[in-house]
Formats: sequence, structure tokens, C-alpha cells
Amino acid sequence: MATRALHTVRQARPGSARADVPLASVLADHPPASDSLGLYIHVPFCAKRCHYCSFNTAPLDESAMVRYLAALERELDLLGDLEWAPRVRVETVFFGGGTPSLLDPEALAAILVRLRRRFGVAADAETTVECNPESVTRTKLEAYRAAGVNRLSLGVQSLDDGILPRLGRLHDRRGARLAFEASRDAGFSNVSVDLMYGLPGLDLEGWSRTVDAVLDWQPDHLSAYGLTLDAGSLWGAAGVGGLPPEETVVEQYWQLTRVAAERGFEHYEVSNYARPGFRSRHNQIYWRAAEYLAAGPGACGFVGGVRYANVRATPRYCETLEEGRLPLDTFEELTPGQRSAERLFLGLRTADGVPAPWLEARRQGDASLRRTLAAWRDARLLAEGDDRVRLTEAGFLLSDALFIELL
Ligand SMILES: C[S@@+](CC[C@H](N)C(=O)[O-])C[C@H]1O[C@@H](n2cnc3c(N)ncnc32)[C@H](O)[C@@H]1O
Ligand code: SF4
Repeated sequence: MATRALHTVRQARPGSARADVPLASVLADHPPASDSLGLYIHVPFCAKRCHYCSFNTAPLDESAMVRYLAALERELDLLGDLEWAPRVRVETVFFGGGTPSLLDPEALAAILVRLRRRFGVAADAETTVECNPESVTRTKLEAYRAAGVNRLSLGVQSLDDGILPRLGRLHDRRGARLAFEASRDAGFSNVSVDLMYGLPGLDLEGWSRTVDAVLDWQPDHLSAYGLTLDAGSLWGAAGVGGLPPEETVVEQYWQLTRVAAERGFEHYEVSNYARPGFRSRHNQIYWRAAEYLAAGPGACGFVGGVRYANVRATPRYCETLEEGRLPLDTFEELTPGQRSAERLFLGLRTADGVPAPWLEARRQGDASLRRTLAAWRDARLLAEGDDRVRLTEAGFLLSDALFIELL
């Protein structure tokens, strides 16, 4: 069973750019089909790299931060200059990282002011900041809120003081709880917590203690990812001991799904749980294969049928913008077949599933796929009801393996 690869939070980077197409014109030539978009902003700095992490991030350096902030403002200006920009409305903004909570409130406010100057931003736009517990205080969070942030995603990962330092985290159990309390005290009524399972040294009892304690805080949303390791992380490159066996990882998944349901959370995506009304609007844009812009080093976007990625290295990202160009690195124009496959796979990651005809279209004339789908239905991995098809929670657990069979 492919659980370790299953709950990945990474997005695939698009394929390589076509040599005959100037990168700068890609966004100009591909206006969005929709008049509402999400915006992902990548903040590429952390106080320290965690041992499991392969995200695009580097140690914080004040002068690099100043240069990055200037480049980001330029990027928002260039995006705002696109001929189609006045026609679209930004419905969600997500500051991801890296560690966006390293941003001074003044810097974060300046980014949002710049954005509102260049784009129509919905009055109720969901505006999320990923926060590391050790980098927030009530005062800082109050200032974020005053700047227009209305949702926080707090990277707790674990509440086990034996495990947190092994991960390379800078907070402990108490610091995580204080950060959560600070977010409520600052007035945030939409707070999500990130957890990880399948961690070295984590047994079922330890995981249960973390889940119960976090749910006692009464967050509005929970994301829980099974550990994945790739070569870009210290552990992926050097290896790590003490990983729990596959059966334990599976039990950890089931433990969370059970307890989250008991506490009134809906398991609305493979790795995500929400109290009613608190699904992440931004992430739902991804899962519905809807359109979103990207800003910041290495950030990926999808507009006008084109998936694109920015230059990944922060110095080169800054250089490109200083030269007055959008920092696109690669793009891929999806064929209609690729788009419908993406919509299918992304939709099946959610509890809403997909309209039955989407799967029917693939099933037509494919006897082997019909047999596979019948076997999944019999094994209760897939539920075909009314006019939609959904994976069950057992299906979520195996979704990556199932998708390989669907391809
Ligand atoms: C992009 S990270 C940034 C969040 C923030 N810097 C932090 O660490 O709390 C978002 C989430 O991805 C998850 N994550 C990062 N690396 C992972 C890995 N190798 N396996 C599974 N989940 C991972 C963690 O739960 C983390 O909170
Ligand atoms: S997990 Fe978060 S804090 Fe740790 S290195 Fe990755 S982005 Fe930075």
C-alpha cells in the first residue's frame, strides 16, 4: 500500500518550456477562463530547515528578505499590468512557505496593499498565512489580522517533546499550544492546524495523544500528512531510522479519521478535515482544477489552460524581476485529455467526488478499467451513488495506487 506517497502536499511542477515561446508572453497569451482566481504567494525563508522537508526554502537572511520583498512587489505589479488583470477578481490569497510568519506585519500589509492596488480583491477574500509556532505572538497576529489576514494555518506537526527536536522543529508542545491560543486571542475565528504522522519514533498511542490534545484546542480545520521523504530533504538523502511499519502508519490514518468524525469534522479531502463551513476555499481551487495565479520563487500557477512555475532559486527570481520580467521558468499547455484526467484525479481526492459521467467517459470501451472499478466498488474503495462517484475513506488511503491503475 502506498500510504507514504499518498498524502503528499507537493504539486507537480509543469514540464519544460517550449523553446519557441517567450516565457514572458505565456500569461499574456493565456487569459484565465474564469473571472475569479486564487493567488498563491511563496515565502522562501525559514529560521532552520526541518529534517524531512524538501520545500523551496533557505535560511532567513535579512538582506535576502528585503530583496525578495521588493521583487515580489514588482511581480504583483507586472501581473497587474497584464491586459486581462482588470477583469479578474482575487477570491483567495494563500501565503505559503517556507515560513510566511517570518514576515513583519508591515511587510505583509504592504504586499496586500500592493495586491489590492493592482487587482480587484473580493471583500471577503479568504486570506491565509502559514505560521510556525515559534515565530508568532499575539501582537504580530493582531497586526496580520488588521492587514486583512482572516485565516491561519499553524504548523504544529506533533505535540511530542521527544519527537519535535528529532524533526528539527524549533517549537515544543507548550509553544504550539501558546501559538494556538495567541491566534484565538488575536481574534482569528478560522484556524487550521497541520500535523504529520508516520514519523520516526511515533507509535499509535503517541499519535492518539497528539490528535486528542489538538482537537481539544478546537481548531476549525486540520491537515494531516503522512511523512513522505524525497532526495531534497536531509532524511531523504541521508536516511532516517525508527520509521514505523506500514501497518502502524495505516492505523494512524484510521485513528485520525475516526476521532475527527467523532468531534464533528468532515473528512473532505484525503489529508484534510474541517468543521462545517470551514473547508479551505483556497485549496478547493486546486482540487477543482480551477485557476490560480502564483507569485514568489518556485510558485506554481494555473491559468488559461497553462500550468506554469516560477524560477525556483530566490536570487535568480529576484534578478529576473529586477530586469523587469516576470520570473516564469517552465510552463505546460494542458491538452483537453490532460485537463479532464487532472479534474478526475483531483476531484476523486475530495469527499464530493466527481460527476459520474467523467468516469463513465474513461470506462467506455475499456473492459479492463470496468473490471477494476467493479473490484474497487466491491472492496468498498469506491462509491457510485446518485450522479457522483466518490472514493470512500478506505479509497482515500489507497488513492495514489488507485490513480496509477486509472491512468
Ligand atoms: C509547506 S509546509 C510549510 C509550513 C510551515 N513552514 C511549517 O513547517 O509549519 C506545509 C506543511 O507540509 C507538511 N510537510 C512538509 N514536509 C512534509 C513531508 N516531507 N511529508 C509530509 N508532510 C510534509 C507539514 O505538515 C507542513 O506543515
Ligand atoms: S517544514 Fe516548514 S519550517 Fe520546516 S523547513 Fe519546511 S517549510 Fe521550513
